[in-house]
Amino acid sequence: MSQKATIEIEGKKYELPVIKGTENELAIDIKTLRSATGGVITIDPGFKNTGSCESAITFLNGEEGILRYRGYSIEELAEKADFLEVAFLLIFGELPTKEQLEKFDTDIKANAHVDEDVKKIIDGFPKAAHPMGVLSSLTSALVAFNPSSVNVDSEEEMYNAIVRIMGKFPVLTAWTYRKHSGLPLDYGDSSLGYVENFIKMMFKKPADEYKSNKVVLDALDKLLILHADHEQNCSTSTVRIVGSSHAGLFVSLSAGINALWGPLHGGANQAVIEMLEAIEEDGGDTKKYMAKAKDKNDPFRLMGFGHRVYKNFDPRAKIIKKSADNVLGDLGIEDPILDIAKGLEKEALEDSYFVDRKLYPNVDFYSGIIYRALGIPTEMFTPMFALGRLPGWIAQWREMRLNKEPIGRPRQIYIGEQKRPFKKIKDR
Ligand code: ACO
Repeated sequence: MSQKATIEIEGKKYELPVIKGTENELAIDIKTLRSATGGVITIDPGFKNTGSCESAITFLNGEEGILRYRGYSIEELAEKADFLEVAFLLIFGELPTKEQLEKFDTDIKANAHVDEDVKKIIDGFPKAAHPMGVLSSLTSALVAFNPSSVNVDSEEEMYNAIVRIMGKFPVLTAWTYRKHSGLPLDYGDSSLGYVENFIKMMFKKPADEYKSNKVVLDALDKLLILHADHEQNCSTSTVRIVGSSHAGLFVSLSAGINALWGPLHGGANQAVIEMLEAIEEDGGDTKKYMAKAKDKNDPFRLMGFGHRVYKNFDPRAKIIKKSADNVLGDLGIEDPILDIAKGLEKEALEDSYFVDRKLYPNVDFYSGIIYRALGIPTEMFTPMFALGRLPGWIAQWREMRLNKEPIGRPRQIYIGEQKRPFKKIKDR
Protein backbone atom coordinates (compact mmCIF):
# COMPACT_ATOMS: atom_id res chain seq x y z
CA MET A 1 0.00 0.00 0.00
CA SER A 2 1.48 3.31 -0.99
CA GLN A 3 1.58 5.77 1.88
CA LYS A 4 0.47 9.39 1.82
CA ALA A 5 1.46 12.35 3.99
CA THR A 6 -1.19 14.93 4.80
CA ILE A 7 -0.35 18.53 5.53
CA GLU A 8 -2.72 21.26 6.57
CA ILE A 9 -2.09 24.85 5.56
CA GLU A 10 -4.49 27.64 6.52
CA GLY A 11 -7.25 25.12 7.18
CA LYS A 12 -6.84 23.26 3.89
CA LYS A 13 -5.53 19.70 3.69
CA TYR A 14 -3.20 18.42 0.99
CA GLU A 15 -2.12 14.83 0.40
CA LEU A 16 1.40 14.15 -0.78
CA PRO A 17 2.88 10.82 -1.91
CA VAL A 18 5.46 9.13 0.30
CA ILE A 19 8.20 7.30 -1.56
CA LYS A 20 10.36 4.47 -0.22
CA GLY A 21 13.95 3.66 -1.18
CA THR A 22 15.35 0.13 -1.52
CA GLU A 23 16.65 0.35 2.06
CA ASN A 24 13.19 1.45 3.29
CA GLU A 25 14.08 5.12 3.64
CA LEU A 26 10.96 7.28 3.45
CA ALA A 27 10.55 10.66 1.80
CA ILE A 28 7.59 12.95 1.31
CA ASP A 29 7.44 13.79 -2.37
CA ILE A 30 6.73 17.54 -2.54
CA LYS A 31 7.09 17.93 -6.32
CA THR A 32 3.47 19.11 -6.64
CA LEU A 33 3.32 21.12 -3.39
CA ARG A 34 3.80 24.58 -4.85
CA SER A 35 1.36 24.20 -7.70
CA ALA A 36 -1.27 22.44 -5.54
CA THR A 37 -1.13 25.04 -2.77
CA GLY A 38 -0.72 28.10 -4.97
CA GLY A 39 2.80 28.97 -3.86
CA VAL A 40 3.72 27.24 -0.60
CA ILE A 41 7.28 25.96 -0.51
CA THR A 42 9.39 24.14 2.09
CA ILE A 43 12.43 25.70 3.72
CA ASP A 44 15.44 23.76 4.93
CA PRO A 45 18.73 25.71 5.24
CA GLY A 46 21.70 23.40 4.78
CA PHE A 47 19.30 20.81 3.27
CA LYS A 48 19.38 18.80 6.50
CA ASN A 49 15.99 17.22 5.68
CA THR A 50 15.92 17.53 1.93
CA GLY A 51 16.65 14.86 -0.66
CA SER A 52 17.80 16.47 -3.91
CA CYS A 53 17.46 13.37 -6.06
CA GLU A 54 16.85 9.64 -6.20
CA SER A 55 20.20 7.92 -6.62
CA ALA A 56 21.31 4.31 -7.10
CA ILE A 57 25.01 4.93 -6.40
CA THR A 58 25.79 5.09 -2.67
CA PHE A 59 23.83 4.00 0.39
CA LEU A 60 24.69 5.63 3.66
CA ASN A 61 23.07 5.12 7.04
CA GLY A 62 24.62 7.61 9.41
CA GLU A 63 22.81 6.29 12.50
CA GLU A 64 24.15 2.77 12.01
CA GLY A 65 27.46 3.75 10.40
CA ILE A 66 26.83 1.94 7.08
CA LEU A 67 28.40 2.93 3.76
CA ARG A 68 27.94 0.94 0.53
CA TYR A 69 28.83 1.69 -3.08
CA ARG A 70 26.31 0.14 -5.49
CA GLY A 71 25.35 -2.35 -2.75
CA TYR A 72 28.90 -3.44 -1.84
CA SER A 73 30.08 -2.64 1.68
CA ILE A 74 32.94 -0.17 2.02
CA GLU A 75 34.72 -2.66 4.29
CA GLU A 76 34.71 -5.36 1.58
CA LEU A 77 35.66 -2.99 -1.23
CA ALA A 78 38.56 -1.51 0.78
CA GLU A 79 39.87 -5.01 1.45
CA LYS A 80 39.28 -6.74 -1.89
CA ALA A 81 39.07 -4.23 -4.72
CA ASP A 82 41.45 -1.69 -6.18
CA PHE A 83 40.67 1.96 -6.86
CA LEU A 84 40.14 1.58 -10.62
CA GLU A 85 37.65 -1.28 -10.12
CA VAL A 86 35.78 0.83 -7.58
CA ALA A 87 35.79 3.78 -9.99
CA PHE A 88 34.24 1.57 -12.70
CA LEU A 89 31.70 0.21 -10.21
CA LEU A 90 30.61 3.67 -9.08
CA ILE A 91 30.40 5.14 -12.57
CA PHE A 92 28.83 2.24 -14.48
CA GLY A 93 26.95 0.42 -11.71
CA GLU A 94 28.57 -3.05 -11.74
CA LEU A 95 31.96 -4.49 -10.86
CA PRO A 96 33.89 -4.76 -14.15
CA THR A 97 34.72 -8.06 -15.83
CA LYS A 98 38.41 -8.58 -16.61
CA GLU A 99 37.83 -7.38 -20.20
CA GLN A 100 35.84 -4.33 -19.12
CA LEU A 101 38.52 -3.32 -16.63
CA GLU A 102 41.28 -3.77 -19.21
CA LYS A 103 39.40 -1.60 -21.71
CA PHE A 104 38.70 1.08 -19.07
CA ASP A 105 42.39 1.07 -18.09
CA THR A 106 43.57 1.21 -21.72
CA ASP A 107 41.17 4.06 -22.57
CA ILE A 108 42.28 6.01 -19.50
CA LYS A 109 45.95 5.44 -20.30
CA ALA A 110 45.37 6.69 -23.86
CA ASN A 111 44.32 9.97 -22.23
CA ALA A 112 46.87 10.12 -19.43
CA HIS A 113 48.67 13.18 -20.73
CA VAL A 114 47.87 16.85 -20.95
CA ASP A 115 48.72 19.39 -23.64
CA GLU A 116 52.27 20.75 -23.18
CA ASP A 117 50.77 24.25 -23.05
CA VAL A 118 49.16 23.36 -19.70
CA LYS A 119 52.69 23.75 -18.30
CA LYS A 120 52.60 27.45 -19.24
CA ILE A 121 49.45 27.87 -17.15
CA ILE A 122 51.08 26.05 -14.23
CA ASP A 123 54.12 28.30 -14.56
CA GLY A 124 51.86 31.34 -14.24
CA PHE A 125 50.83 30.41 -10.70
CA PRO A 126 52.92 31.58 -7.75
CA LYS A 127 54.71 28.63 -6.15
CA ALA A 128 52.95 29.31 -2.86
CA ALA A 129 49.46 29.17 -4.41
CA HIS A 130 47.15 26.75 -2.61
CA PRO A 131 47.10 23.51 -4.65
CA MET A 132 43.29 23.32 -4.51
CA GLY A 133 43.00 26.67 -6.30
CA VAL A 134 45.54 25.54 -8.88
CA LEU A 135 43.82 22.18 -9.37
CA SER A 136 40.35 23.63 -9.86
CA SER A 137 41.74 26.21 -12.33
CA LEU A 138 43.61 23.56 -14.29
CA THR A 139 40.52 21.34 -14.41
CA SER A 140 38.51 24.22 -15.89
CA ALA A 141 41.37 25.06 -18.23
CA LEU A 142 41.25 21.52 -19.67
CA VAL A 143 38.04 22.50 -21.45
CA ALA A 144 40.03 24.92 -23.62
CA PHE A 145 42.25 22.04 -24.75
CA ASN A 146 39.37 19.55 -25.14
CA PRO A 147 36.42 21.58 -26.47
CA SER A 148 34.55 18.41 -27.49
CA SER A 149 34.14 17.60 -23.79
CA VAL A 150 31.85 20.59 -23.23
CA ASN A 151 28.54 19.53 -24.75
CA VAL A 152 28.15 15.88 -23.94
CA ASP A 153 24.76 14.38 -24.51
CA SER A 154 25.18 10.84 -25.78
CA GLU A 155 26.50 8.01 -23.63
CA GLU A 156 29.47 7.72 -26.01
CA GLU A 157 30.39 11.40 -25.58
CA MET A 158 30.03 10.97 -21.82
CA TYR A 159 32.32 7.94 -21.84
CA ASN A 160 34.96 9.84 -23.81
CA ALA A 161 34.80 12.79 -21.39
CA ILE A 162 35.01 10.37 -18.43
CA VAL A 163 38.12 8.47 -19.58
CA ARG A 164 39.71 11.78 -20.56
CA ILE A 165 39.34 13.29 -17.10
CA MET A 166 40.20 10.01 -15.34
CA GLY A 167 43.45 10.04 -17.35
CA LYS A 168 44.30 13.71 -16.99
CA PHE A 169 43.28 14.45 -13.41
CA PRO A 170 46.10 12.45 -11.75
CA VAL A 171 48.57 14.28 -14.01
CA LEU A 172 47.16 17.65 -12.94
CA THR A 173 47.17 16.64 -9.26
CA ALA A 174 50.76 15.36 -9.38
CA TRP A 175 51.95 18.37 -11.37
CA THR A 176 50.26 20.74 -8.92
CA TYR A 177 52.26 19.03 -6.16
CA ARG A 178 55.54 19.11 -8.08
CA LYS A 179 55.16 22.78 -8.89
CA HIS A 180 54.39 23.43 -5.20
CA SER A 181 57.50 21.47 -4.20
CA GLY A 182 59.81 22.90 -6.88
CA LEU A 183 60.24 19.57 -8.67
CA PRO A 184 60.36 19.13 -12.47
CA LEU A 185 57.14 17.70 -13.90
CA ASP A 186 57.02 13.93 -14.45
CA TYR A 187 55.18 12.14 -17.27
CA GLY A 188 54.52 8.92 -15.39
CA ASP A 189 54.85 5.40 -16.76
CA SER A 190 51.99 3.75 -18.63
CA SER A 191 53.22 0.27 -17.65
CA LEU A 192 52.16 0.99 -14.05
CA GLY A 193 48.65 0.71 -12.57
CA TYR A 194 46.50 3.82 -12.07
CA VAL A 195 47.46 4.55 -8.45
CA GLU A 196 51.07 3.46 -8.77
CA ASN A 197 51.57 5.66 -11.81
CA PHE A 198 50.16 8.55 -9.81
CA ILE A 199 52.60 7.81 -6.97
CA LYS A 200 55.48 7.84 -9.45
CA MET A 201 54.34 11.15 -10.95
CA MET A 202 54.11 12.62 -7.45
CA PHE A 203 57.23 11.36 -5.75
CA LYS A 204 59.92 10.38 -8.24
CA LYS A 205 63.00 12.52 -7.63
CA PRO A 206 64.70 13.72 -10.84
CA ALA A 207 67.93 11.75 -10.36
CA ASP A 208 66.48 8.64 -8.67
CA GLU A 209 64.95 5.55 -10.16
CA TYR A 210 61.31 4.95 -9.23
CA LYS A 211 60.99 2.14 -6.66
CA SER A 212 57.63 0.63 -5.87
CA ASN A 213 56.62 0.56 -2.18
CA LYS A 214 53.76 -1.83 -1.44
CA VAL A 215 52.89 -0.28 1.92
CA VAL A 216 52.52 3.17 0.38
CA LEU A 217 50.62 1.79 -2.62
CA ASP A 218 48.14 -0.21 -0.48
CA ALA A 219 47.53 2.67 1.92
CA LEU A 220 46.91 5.16 -0.86
CA ASP A 221 44.71 2.77 -2.83
CA LYS A 222 42.58 2.21 0.28
CA LEU A 223 42.35 5.92 1.06
CA LEU A 224 41.22 6.71 -2.47
CA ILE A 225 38.56 3.96 -2.30
CA LEU A 226 37.25 5.25 1.04
CA HIS A 227 36.93 8.75 -0.37
CA ALA A 228 35.46 7.71 -3.73
CA ASP A 229 31.83 8.62 -3.03
CA HIS A 230 29.64 9.81 -0.20
CA GLU A 231 26.23 10.48 -1.78
CA GLN A 232 24.89 14.04 -1.81
CA ASN A 233 27.58 15.87 0.21
CA CYS A 234 28.49 19.52 -0.42
CA SER A 235 30.93 19.00 -3.32
CA THR A 236 28.86 16.26 -5.00
CA SER A 237 25.71 18.36 -4.80
CA THR A 238 27.75 21.18 -6.34
CA VAL A 239 28.86 18.95 -9.21
CA ARG A 240 25.27 17.82 -9.82
CA ILE A 241 23.82 21.31 -9.65
CA VAL A 242 26.46 22.87 -11.93
CA GLY A 243 26.09 19.93 -14.33
CA SER A 244 22.31 20.34 -14.27
CA SER A 245 22.71 23.54 -16.30
CA HIS A 246 24.39 21.28 -18.91
CA ALA A 247 27.75 22.87 -18.26
CA GLY A 248 30.27 20.16 -19.17
CA LEU A 249 31.82 17.52 -16.95
CA PHE A 250 35.18 19.25 -16.47
CA VAL A 251 33.76 22.57 -15.23
CA SER A 252 31.23 20.77 -13.02
CA LEU A 253 34.17 18.91 -11.46
CA SER A 254 36.11 22.14 -11.10
CA ALA A 255 33.19 23.59 -9.11
CA GLY A 256 33.15 20.43 -6.96
CA ILE A 257 36.87 20.86 -6.23
CA ASN A 258 36.21 24.39 -4.97
CA ALA A 259 33.36 23.16 -2.75
CA LEU A 260 35.62 20.44 -1.36
CA TRP A 261 38.31 22.99 -0.46
CA GLY A 262 36.45 24.40 2.57
CA PRO A 263 37.57 23.36 6.07
CA LEU A 264 34.06 22.15 6.94
CA HIS A 265 34.30 19.64 4.08
CA GLY A 266 37.42 18.19 2.37
CA GLY A 267 39.67 20.90 3.76
CA ALA A 268 39.19 19.31 7.18
CA ASN A 269 42.10 16.88 6.61
CA GLN A 270 44.50 19.83 6.30
CA ALA A 271 42.79 21.60 9.21
CA VAL A 272 43.18 18.49 11.43
CA ILE A 273 46.97 18.37 11.03
CA GLU A 274 47.30 22.14 11.43
CA MET A 275 45.24 21.87 14.63
CA LEU A 276 47.37 18.97 15.95
CA GLU A 277 50.56 20.89 15.13
CA ALA A 278 49.24 23.99 16.90
CA ILE A 279 48.34 21.93 19.99
CA GLU A 280 51.81 20.37 19.99
CA GLU A 281 53.50 23.77 19.67
CA ASP A 282 51.36 25.01 22.54
CA GLY A 283 52.72 22.28 24.84
CA GLY A 284 50.44 19.38 23.87
CA ASP A 285 47.71 20.10 26.45
CA THR A 286 44.74 18.26 24.89
CA LYS A 287 42.46 19.09 27.84
CA LYS A 288 42.85 22.82 27.15
CA TYR A 289 41.71 22.31 23.56
CA MET A 290 38.85 20.04 24.59
CA ALA A 291 37.63 22.87 26.82
CA LYS A 292 37.98 25.38 23.97
CA ALA A 293 35.95 23.10 21.65
CA LYS A 294 33.14 22.95 24.20
CA ASP A 295 33.14 26.69 24.96
CA LYS A 296 30.31 28.28 22.97
CA ASN A 297 32.08 31.68 23.17
CA ASP A 298 35.16 30.23 21.50
CA PRO A 299 35.00 29.65 17.72
CA PHE A 300 37.46 26.73 18.02
CA ARG A 301 36.08 23.37 16.87
CA LEU A 302 37.76 20.03 17.16
CA MET A 303 38.62 19.47 13.51
CA GLY A 304 38.04 15.91 12.31
CA PHE A 305 35.15 15.42 14.73
CA GLY A 306 31.48 15.40 13.86
CA HIS A 307 29.72 14.76 10.62
CA ARG A 308 26.49 15.98 9.07
CA VAL A 309 25.20 12.46 8.49
CA TYR A 310 27.22 10.13 10.74
CA LYS A 311 25.83 10.16 14.23
CA ASN A 312 27.88 7.03 14.92
CA PHE A 313 31.50 6.09 14.18
CA ASP A 314 32.29 6.96 10.55
CA PRO A 315 32.83 3.47 9.01
CA ARG A 316 35.61 4.89 6.84
CA ALA A 317 37.36 6.19 9.97
CA LYS A 318 37.39 2.67 11.44
CA ILE A 319 39.13 1.21 8.35
CA ILE A 320 41.53 4.10 8.02
CA LYS A 321 42.49 4.07 11.70
CA LYS A 322 43.74 0.51 11.24
CA SER A 323 45.50 1.50 8.03
CA ALA A 324 47.16 4.47 9.79
CA ASP A 325 48.55 2.12 12.46
CA ASN A 326 49.91 -0.24 9.75
CA VAL A 327 51.50 2.53 7.70
CA LEU A 328 53.19 4.15 10.69
CA GLY A 329 54.40 0.75 11.91
CA ASP A 330 55.66 -0.41 8.50
CA LEU A 331 57.39 2.85 7.70
CA GLY A 332 58.81 2.99 11.24
CA ILE A 333 57.41 6.45 11.84
CA GLU A 334 57.04 7.87 15.32
CA ASP A 335 55.06 11.05 15.18
CA PRO A 336 54.34 13.12 18.32
CA ILE A 337 51.24 14.43 16.55
CA LEU A 338 49.83 10.91 16.65
CA ASP A 339 49.94 10.87 20.46
CA ILE A 340 48.00 14.12 20.54
CA ALA A 341 45.47 12.69 18.09
CA LYS A 342 45.06 9.57 20.22
CA GLY A 343 44.66 11.68 23.36
CA LEU A 344 41.98 13.88 21.79
CA GLU A 345 40.14 10.86 20.44
CA LYS A 346 40.09 9.11 23.82
CA GLU A 347 38.96 12.23 25.68
CA ALA A 348 36.26 13.10 23.15
CA LEU A 349 34.82 9.58 23.16
CA GLU A 350 34.45 9.78 26.95
CA ASP A 351 33.23 13.37 27.17
CA SER A 352 29.48 13.99 27.53
CA TYR A 353 29.61 17.09 25.27
CA PHE A 354 30.81 14.92 22.37
CA VAL A 355 28.86 11.80 23.35
CA ASP A 356 25.54 13.67 23.71
CA ARG A 357 25.98 15.38 20.34
CA LYS A 358 27.12 12.11 18.74
CA LEU A 359 30.40 13.68 17.60
CA TYR A 360 32.79 10.91 16.55
CA PRO A 361 36.11 11.11 14.69
CA ASN A 362 35.48 11.32 10.94
CA VAL A 363 37.57 9.98 8.05
CA ASP A 364 39.64 13.13 7.91
CA PHE A 365 40.82 12.77 11.46
CA TYR A 366 43.01 9.85 10.34
CA SER A 367 43.59 10.46 6.62
CA GLY A 368 45.84 13.44 7.34
CA ILE A 369 47.99 11.29 9.61
CA ILE A 370 48.57 8.79 6.78
CA TYR A 371 49.24 11.48 4.17
CA ARG A 372 51.76 13.03 6.55
CA ALA A 373 53.46 9.68 7.09
CA LEU A 374 53.70 9.27 3.30
CA GLY A 375 55.56 12.59 3.12
CA ILE A 376 52.76 14.52 1.41
CA PRO A 377 52.73 18.22 2.37
CA THR A 378 49.68 19.34 4.35
CA GLU A 379 48.36 21.60 1.60
CA MET A 380 48.18 18.61 -0.75
CA PHE A 381 45.86 16.60 1.51
CA THR A 382 42.67 18.05 0.05
CA PRO A 383 43.84 17.52 -3.58
CA MET A 384 44.43 13.86 -2.60
CA PHE A 385 40.84 13.74 -1.39
CA ALA A 386 39.73 15.27 -4.72
CA LEU A 387 41.54 12.52 -6.64
CA GLY A 388 39.73 9.91 -4.56
CA ARG A 389 36.35 11.63 -4.94
CA LEU A 390 36.74 11.99 -8.74
CA PRO A 391 34.89 8.74 -9.66
CA GLY A 392 32.04 9.58 -7.26
CA TRP A 393 31.59 13.05 -8.74
CA ILE A 394 31.68 11.56 -12.25
CA ALA A 395 29.17 8.83 -11.33
CA GLN A 396 26.78 11.36 -9.80
CA TRP A 397 27.10 13.74 -12.75
CA ARG A 398 26.47 10.88 -15.20
CA GLU A 399 23.45 9.67 -13.26
CA MET A 400 22.03 13.20 -13.16
CA ARG A 401 22.45 13.58 -16.93
CA LEU A 402 21.11 10.11 -17.78
CA ASN A 403 18.08 10.68 -15.52
CA LYS A 404 17.49 13.95 -17.39
CA GLU A 405 17.14 15.83 -14.13
CA PRO A 406 15.88 19.42 -14.38
CA ILE A 407 18.19 22.35 -13.72
CA GLY A 408 18.81 22.76 -9.98
CA ARG A 409 17.15 25.96 -8.86
CA PRO A 410 16.01 26.20 -5.23
CA ARG A 411 13.47 28.77 -4.08
CA GLN A 412 13.56 31.08 -1.07
CA ILE A 413 11.42 32.92 1.43
CA TYR A 414 12.08 36.62 0.93
CA ILE A 415 12.56 38.51 4.22
CA GLY A 416 13.91 41.82 2.86
CA GLU A 417 12.35 45.27 2.53
CA GLN A 418 8.97 45.63 0.86
CA LYS A 419 8.60 47.94 -2.14
CA ARG A 420 9.86 51.46 -1.36
CA PRO A 421 10.59 54.57 -3.42
CA PHE A 422 14.12 55.32 -4.61
CA LYS A 423 15.90 58.08 -2.65
CA LYS A 424 18.20 60.45 -4.46
CA ILE A 425 21.77 60.44 -3.09
CA LYS A 426 21.41 63.90 -1.58
CA ASP A 427 18.38 62.72 0.46
CA ARG A 428 19.98 59.54 1.94
N1 ACO B 1 33.84 20.49 17.78
C1 ACO B 1 33.03 21.01 18.74
N2 ACO B 1 31.68 21.06 18.67
C2 ACO B 1 31.11 20.58 17.55
C3 ACO B 1 31.87 20.03 16.50
C4 ACO B 1 33.28 19.98 16.64
N3 ACO B 1 34.05 19.47 15.68
N4 ACO B 1 31.04 19.62 15.50
C5 ACO B 1 29.80 19.91 15.91
N5 ACO B 1 29.84 20.48 17.15
C6 ACO B 1 28.68 20.88 17.97
C7 ACO B 1 28.06 22.18 17.48
O1 ACO B 1 28.63 23.29 18.13
C8 ACO B 1 26.61 21.97 17.84
O2 ACO B 1 26.48 22.16 19.22
P1 ACO B 1 25.09 22.78 19.82
O3 ACO B 1 24.03 21.78 19.47
O4 ACO B 1 25.36 22.91 21.27
O5 ACO B 1 24.91 24.11 19.13
C9 ACO B 1 26.38 20.48 17.59
O6 ACO B 1 27.68 19.88 17.79
C10 ACO B 1 25.88 20.13 16.18
O7 ACO B 1 26.77 20.71 15.26
P2 ACO B 1 26.35 21.31 13.83
O8 ACO B 1 27.38 22.29 13.38
O9 ACO B 1 24.92 21.76 13.89
O10 ACO B 1 26.40 20.01 12.95
P3 ACO B 1 26.44 19.99 11.38
O11 ACO B 1 25.85 18.71 10.96
O12 ACO B 1 25.87 21.24 10.81
O13 ACO B 1 28.02 20.05 11.06
C11 ACO B 1 30.26 19.47 10.63
C12 ACO B 1 28.80 18.98 10.72
C13 ACO B 1 30.35 20.70 9.70
C14 ACO B 1 31.10 18.36 10.01
C15 ACO B 1 30.75 19.81 12.06
O14 ACO B 1 30.67 18.68 12.90
C16 ACO B 1 32.18 20.36 12.06
O15 ACO B 1 32.38 21.56 11.86
N6 ACO B 1 33.21 19.48 12.27
C17 ACO B 1 34.58 19.88 12.20
C18 ACO B 1 35.02 19.99 10.76
C19 ACO B 1 35.22 18.63 10.10
O16 ACO B 1 35.84 17.74 10.66
N7 ACO B 1 34.69 18.51 8.85
C20 ACO B 1 34.87 17.29 8.06
C21 ACO B 1 33.58 16.59 7.81
S1 ACO B 1 33.90 15.08 6.99
C22 ACO B 1 34.08 15.48 5.38
O17 ACO B 1 33.64 16.46 4.86
C23 ACO B 1 34.80 14.52 4.55
